[in-house]
Amino acid sequence: HSSSSRFAREDLDRTKDGYADVNWDELGFNVVQTDYMYVMRSPQDGKFTSGELNPYGEITLSPSSGVLNYGQGLFEGLKAYRKGDGNGFMLFRPEENALRMQKGAERMCMPSPSVEQFVHAVKQTVVANKRWVPPPGKGSLYIRPLLMGSGPVLGLAPSPEYTFLVVAVPVGRYFKYCSGTLNLLISDEYHRATPGGTGGIKTISNYGPVLKAQVQAKSKGFADVLFLDSVNKKYLEEAASCNIFIVKGNIISTPATYGTILPGITRKSIIEIARDQGYQVEEKLVSMDEVIDADEIFCTGTAVVLTPVDTITYCGQRFQYNTGIQTVSHRLYNTLAAIQMGNVEDTRGWRLEI
Ligand code: COI
Repeated sequence: HSSSSRFAREDLDRTKDGYADVNWDELGFNVVQTDYMYVMRSPQDGKFTSGELNPYGEITLSPSSGVLNYGQGLFEGLKAYRKGDGNGFMLFRPEENALRMQKGAERMCMPSPSVEQFVHAVKQTVVANKRWVPPPGKGSLYIRPLLMGSGPVLGLAPSPEYTFLVVAVPVGRYFKYCSGTLNLLISDEYHRATPGGTGGIKTISNYGPVLKAQVQAKSKGFADVLFLDSVNKKYLEEAASCNIFIVKGNIISTPATYGTILPGITRKSIIEIARDQGYQVEEKLVSMDEVIDADEIFCTGTAVVLTPVDTITYCGQRFQYNTGIQTVSHRLYNTLAAIQMGNVEDTRGWRLEI
């Protein structure tokens, strides 16, 4: 630990006003190397006991590790915001991420950190990297917890050893808007998840397979790809990187989490906020007919927060939706962002202050 604290002091000496040397007005969603990461290891049959902060850097991994060979891995994403007065930080619902990781770990035959261990690790990572938390209003510190089978296997089996890691990166906006609008393409070729599969957990192995559809969509100028269900090929599921909602009058609908949809924490928060604001919220099968007929569409996720969708292209046809400050999406975004950034009282207990 003494080497870690020496590392911190030297770095802070190079820091102006307690902030890292970053152009805070130009944050996107890119890798930025911060100072520390949290590391905790566990044998398969044992539980995670304790971890520690290490300087951010490469990790060593057996070439026979379960994560590299058989995809035994999970990740999470959550954000810390700097308080308005510049002192102290707020995490948004970190216990929810801990619980989702536990559910995913159960599905992937992995041990997982307790909620307390998870939240402790996240807090430690934020505090150790505090000079990287953007000034209020400029973005957030995105925290990426990872759980992986780090021990060696050859035959297909759960890994004999696991590693839990937490890294943190300053971020701004997720989508780079193509000429100011967010256009999505529905894939008519690929699907994200299947019934009985792992679409409902945040395993790393859900993300590699969507890259092809995403890259194709991006090459045609779309911001992301939207997937339909793999059985009927007519119900909306989600985008490669976020959940989706449709708005029609006073009714807000989103695909139900039957197992193929990622149970987003932003998704869940928006459902609660929308109901409180008097909207009728339905979690159900959302058909393409309803998508075509919607007034507004928006995406939710930790990375994207709430991002309105301008157009959706499906079978060569482009459908346009309402955006702007008069929309339901805008109202919901404002409410959520105010809670996350600490601009209103936290009546639901969603903020964890550090
Ligand atoms: C998040 O929103 O935190 C995610 O994990 C999505 C990821 C594709 C950036």
